[in-house]
Amino acid sequence: MECPSFRPLPTWRQRSGGLKVSRNERPYHVPALTGPVVEMLRPLGRGVIVDATFGGGGHSRALLAAMPDIRVVAVDRDGDAAAQAAPLAGRVVFYQEDFRKLETVLKEEGLGEIDGVLFDLGVSSHQLDVGYRGFSYQRSGPLDMRMGPDAAFTADEIVNTWDEQSLAGAIGRYGEERWSARIARAIVAARPLVDTTQLAEVVSGAVPARARRAGHPARRTFQALRIVVNDELGALADGLDAALRVLREGGRAVVISYHSLEDRLVKRRFVEAARGCVCPPDLPVCGCGKSAELRLLTRRPVRPGPAEVLANPRIRSARLRAAEVEAS
Ligand SMILES: C[S@@+](CC[C@H](N)C(=O)[O-])C[C@H]1O[C@@H](n2cnc3c(N)ncnc32)[C@H](O)[C@@H]1O
Repeated sequence: MECPSFRPLPTWRQRSGGLKVSRNERPYHVPALTGPVVEMLRPLGRGVIVDATFGGGGHSRALLAAMPDIRVVAVDRDGDAAAQAAPLAGRVVFYQEDFRKLETVLKEEGLGEIDGVLFDLGVSSHQLDVGYRGFSYQRSGPLDMRMGPDAAFTADEIVNTWDEQSLAGAIGRYGEERWSARIARAIVAARPLVDTTQLAEVVSGAVPARARRAGHPARRTFQALRIVVNDELGALADGLDAALRVLREGGRAVVISYHSLEDRLVKRRFVEAARGCVCPPDLPVCGCGKSAELRLLTRRPVRPGPAEVLANPRIRSARLRAAEVEAS
């Protein structure tokens, strides 16, 4: 069923009045932790790797270069990513889809299981850099924030229709924002809000001056809205479960997250799957029958070093976790 508030995402050409993207345009996306991603997946040697968050395809390109015998099933909710995959046709097949639907995608490809999967979460630089997607507090754009047309609603609906308490709850929970109540009050008082510039100003005005030193004051609110619009945590939980169902024995999953809500979810899922018997220690024989599904490849998350952060500050919060499916 089509959502009543659905509006198709405008294409770059529609928004740019048909102008071509110039050659000195910023790169679509500079991927994080490419070395560790390749290191974690290279031992697979061959087979099918799912790049569940293809974006600009930087990770896929690095994997294809390092592993001549793999092919990539690329997934992204964002149709803009399709053009990035096009030059790789032959070794990469692209699906505009939510990674929750991984099993449907694989069925269409005639694949029952896969060798590896990569989730590089969050938004691409492209999505942030083009104001018209509405993700950026630094660029003017509509209150949209949908990664793809499958999202049920836009940021506009949250900002202009949710009651103050629900708004404060979402900003507090998904933005981990201390000043969520003040921000929600200011948003409700300023309605109707028309664009990202106005929203960023209202949020900034609601945050006390002393709290404005730690980065842009609207950063956490924008993060919260984006997470809600795209149901990012629900998608991650479902996507991870789907990936663990389709990985072969010895297959590997790599996840890069960018904030603690995502990282906590990944850590819990991996640790839970890596735990064997959960019977009380004084029970002489195992009664639960549980055995470890995963072997953790990273006890602690891998983080970018200072040189990588200096070259690409957007990835400073990146944390990579990886695990391998145990033989049953
Ligand atoms: C950080 S970027 C990935 C960048 C990519 N690794 C590269 O090398 O260019 C995250 C991408 O994941 C996509 N994405 C986020 N959540 C998704 C979901 N549930 N299903 C499919 N794609 C998703 C976004 O649209 C975005 O393009």
